[in-house]
Amino acid sequence: MQKYYIDKNNQKHNLASMSIDQLNLLNYQEECYFASRIRKLPAFSKKRSEYSHMAYEKIFQIADFKKLKDKNYRKKGANGSTMSSVELLIDLIKCYKKIKPKITIYEAGVGSAYAINKIKNIPNIKIYGCDVFLSDEAKKLKSENINLEEKSLYDHLKKIPDNFIDIFYADNVLEHIVEDEYEDTIKLIFKKLKADGVMYLVIPNGSIGPSDVSRYYLKEGSKALGFHFMERSYKENMETFMKFHIRSKYLAYRNKENKLKLIKANLFFDRLKILLESKLLCIKDKKRRHKLFKLLGYDTYILKKQK
Ligand SMILES: C[S@@+](CC[C@H](N)C(=O)[O-])C[C@H]1O[C@@H](n2cnc3c(N)ncnc32)[C@H](O)[C@@H]1O
Repeated sequence: MQKYYIDKNNQKHNLASMSIDQLNLLNYQEECYFASRIRKLPAFSKKRSEYSHMAYEKIFQIADFKKLKDKNYRKKGANGSTMSSVELLIDLIKCYKKIKPKITIYEAGVGSAYAINKIKNIPNIKIYGCDVFLSDEAKKLKSENINLEEKSLYDHLKKIPDNFIDIFYADNVLEHIVEDEYEDTIKLIFKKLKADGVMYLVIPNGSIGPSDVSRYYLKEGSKALGFHFMERSYKENMETFMKFHIRSKYLAYRNKENKLKLIKANLFFDRLKILLESKLLCIKDKKRRHKLFKLLGYDTYILKKQK
């Protein structure tokens, strides 16, 4: 791990000697600065891709030291929600494998490769994935017949054949897509998904955000200023998906053990879930409000192409 960090003003910081609060503040200041510069670069340009790669690499350098100092993170290995998301991914794979001998899975923004490491030994699956900045853990997988590329989601998907993916998985990634690239990216995912394919997305809910590093410094309901360019409500996300003929296949909720469970979606439940979101926002107690958003799966989308 690189312990010296050069910030936007050319100042040198010794990350190893900083407290978690100091690391958070540096993370926030740097991430806001990088995010505002990324926004100003032309959509889908090589310049934006290269700048994003550099910016994520710098922020991950700080994040590595935050993980080291955060006892909870070290204890759990990965956060609770990632574990339950991957368990659900495995359930979805098992369901597909009952009806198909071979399936293709694509993971956007693989991060520490936690999900791929959990699924890679399941027989008869082919895994593809990308990240703007591939971690060392992810790079290791490249030699294991897993098609991973250090590219933005849009650039990598362009190279994938149409109607190719059975399960598209993105856990805490789509909110990182810059506003002016969002809709074209959704359309491209749709194109690459098979007719009976499924999009499994975990996206933090913007109405109780921000949930990037801005959460330590801004009030609930403020716009995220870090790398979460697209933190939006469940309703807003569903409206975009529906515009591109993407519908809910299942609605997700969590049980008391934090396990994600599914019920088959239909128009009535879909509308109810969208309607209920604004009512939940009226709950005054923040802890209760957040708990209910989580229990009712307002961060989880299991989607299919509309027939
Ligand atoms: C919050 S992390 C989530 C990582 C992983 N999915 C997980 O759940 O642990 C977001 C990841 O998305 C990647 N990312 C951000 N923008 C991206 C883009 N446009 N295309 C591909 N990956 C991107 C980041 O580099 C980072 O690894």
